[in-house]
Amino acid sequence: TLNMKNSCNVLGQLEDLFSRALQAAYPGVTHVASQLQVSKQKQADYQCNDAMALAKSLKKNPREVGEILLKNVPPSPMVSKLELSGPGFINITISTDFIRQQVTNIVLHGVTPPPTTPLRVVVDFSSPNIAKEMHVGHLRSTIIGDSIARLMEYLGHDVLRINHLGDWGTQFGMLIAHLEDRFPDFATKPPPIADLQTFYKESKKRFDEDAEFKKRAYQAVVKLQAHNPIHIKGWQEICEISKKEFSKVYERLKVKIIDRGESFYQSRMESAVKVLQDTGMLEEDEGRKVMFGEGADIPLTIVKSDGGFTYDTSDMACIRQRIEEEKADWLVYVTDAGQGQHFKSLFACAKKAGIYDAAKTRIDHVTFGVVLGKTGRSSRHDQVSDTVRLVDLLNEGLQRSEEKLQEKERDKALTKEEFTKARDAVAYGCIKYADLSHDRARDYVFSFDRMLDFRGNTAAYLLYALTRIRSIARTACIKREDIMAEAQKHPIELEHEKEWKLARTLLKLSDVLLKITEDLCLHSLCEYLFEVSAVFTEFYDNCYCVEKNSDGKIVKINLNRLMLCEATAAVMEKCFAILGIDTVGKM
Ligand code: ARG
Repeated sequence: TLNMKNSCNVLGQLEDLFSRALQAAYPGVTHVASQLQVSKQKQADYQCNDAMALAKSLKKNPREVGEILLKNVPPSPMVSKLELSGPGFINITISTDFIRQQVTNIVLHGVTPPPTTPLRVVVDFSSPNIAKEMHVGHLRSTIIGDSIARLMEYLGHDVLRINHLGDWGTQFGMLIAHLEDRFPDFATKPPPIADLQTFYKESKKRFDEDAEFKKRAYQAVVKLQAHNPIHIKGWQEICEISKKEFSKVYERLKVKIIDRGESFYQSRMESAVKVLQDTGMLEEDEGRKVMFGEGADIPLTIVKSDGGFTYDTSDMACIRQRIEEEKADWLVYVTDAGQGQHFKSLFACAKKAGIYDAAKTRIDHVTFGVVLGKTGRSSRHDQVSDTVRLVDLLNEGLQRSEEKLQEKERDKALTKEEFTKARDAVAYGCIKYADLSHDRARDYVFSFDRMLDFRGNTAAYLLYALTRIRSIARTACIKREDIMAEAQKHPIELEHEKEWKLARTLLKLSDVLLKITEDLCLHSLCEYLFEVSAVFTEFYDNCYCVEKNSDGKIVKINLNRLMLCEATAAVMEKCFAILGIDTVGKM
């Protein structure tokens, strides 16, 4: 049934109407997927193309099938007109009352999510490696993963945000051996390691050059995996230092995530290996135990020739834990595209082992390309990843954002507090938005100059656009409550063509979000946000919200139009919230 009050996912509700029409007209026909789209024609809003596909499979005339379908669409207050056109398209016009009511609802109740069946979702993202630098690839994973989690949370899903830290590898052998030499009393006094990267490099150097040290490092791994208390202590200390560094980045970006690294799966790896062994899933390969999955070129290495476990083993135990213990309905992994083979093989093997059933659990490997370009002023395009420290990059973002706002003399217009808030929002917002607004599968060129441009599809421009929309009512001394009161009295009146265009654009939010749940490509949300701001500008250039006389005195305030401003701000804010970008009242 149509929900006039809460949701406005127009496409979803139309799909429902047309699938009911299909059932009524051709009972039992289920193999035709509903084909609904935004109409390209001016006189209609949406269009249904079901008749073509249906006619083909029923071997009938599409125009006739369209006619029959149309007659069977149940009446709905959302639809004001259905019309057959061309070879059998059905043009759909959305009722103007419905549009007015929905926009008014946004003013009164804010933006509300479309109805969805709540699922248990695990989003595995960020996931840097202990003692190593968190690099730009991890930053992309952090930004994309956080936004996906925010979208799912908004839609009402039960989301588990997991940081699959690389905290259980052979690198700990050399780190602990080096720790024993540098800080012999580390078990009682926390080691004062100022720079873990340098410490890592030192131990790596010794590992590569000193055979004696190498031997000790190997022994340390064995002891660590046997849970020797001293070695566990050293491991914990190193993890602590690393995690503290990582959490600085999460705090600045306001990203919530739960640490659950590879080490969490140690005992589960043992039992997973046993199950795989017992069910005959493992093959011998030069002393290693490997597993092949269907359609995957590279096998997983489940047990190394020295008996140790690998990244593959931990992911195998991990996918099992998420499905069986967490009872996840949906698993999302966010990593660079380079791990495509690994995950392909993992999912195929999990399927073969009976751990994962595609009919019951949805899995997405959300991949992204590399970040190119110098963050400095040079225009040379090379991979940023290894050269720039993440904290330095964020600091540079703050610095540049500050300069930009000063250039625009915002420091003179804002209080110190407002200025700092704007600087932070613009800096972090721009970094996030630049990442999210590109097709994630592609590589992208990192450029502060471009992301801080106040023109075009950037966070700087859009955040500024939002503050301007908010200031329209403020300069007319109209409060939010006044607009709400007006909306309570009557649904919004829409007359001007540009008002209608804006209203229709605002109602697309839910459809845009639901589409993103299919491909997990957030750039369509950025495109939508940019579209909303462009359509708003068109409206604002053509329709007075506040009229002033030649002396600059307000002579007329159009509350209906202020309602539209309010609804636009609410929609933009929701987009920003899902993108993980803070908005500001003034900038
Ligand atoms: N630590 C890995 C890396 O830095 C990413 C882990 C991704 N998650 C997973 N379950 N494998 O490349």
